[in-house]
Amino acid sequence: MQQTLSIIKPDAIEKNLIGKILSRFEENNLKVIAAKMLHLTKEKAQKFYEVHKDKPFYNDLVESITSGPVLVSILYGEDAIQKNRKIMGATDPQKADKGTIRKDFATNIDRNAVHGSDSVENAKIEVSFFFKENEIFIR
Ligand code: CMP
Repeated sequence: MQQTLSIIKPDAIEKNLIGKILSRFEENNLKVIAAKMLHLTKEKAQKFYEVHKDKPFYNDLVESITSGPVLVSILYGEDAIQKNRKIMGATDPQKADKGTIRKDFATNIDRNAVHGSDSVENAKIEVSFFFKENEIFIR
């Protein structure tokens, strides 16, 4: 069993898709064990995406993730990290498979509806970036 960090990004929230996206996780046996809505500051967004700081898309990425509120959650379940990545689809919605969140709901690669941790190591880092132990409701 694993935990993975999920972010519903501002573009998806703007389109009123929180419920539909959380349903996709729940329908696939991922349990939401923590959640909060917040508007990331530029500084917090820069820190979260620090691994991408030398990439050409870094500034656009920070701009888009801070353009409105996000819904941050922890998803829990068997093989949660890979399962979430499958449900989300490819980073670029044009390359995402049919039936994935990004294929169905993303605008483009910068406004791609959701973020999910990509490895066990990053899931741990990203979960603790947003949540304290007493904010996680694991049963
Ligand atoms: P996310 O999973 O949040 O992680 C980094 C984000 O950078 C990614 O989703 C995309 O929204 C954005 N991005 C923009 N251009 C690229 C690119 N060429 N490769 C990867 N990520 C990109």
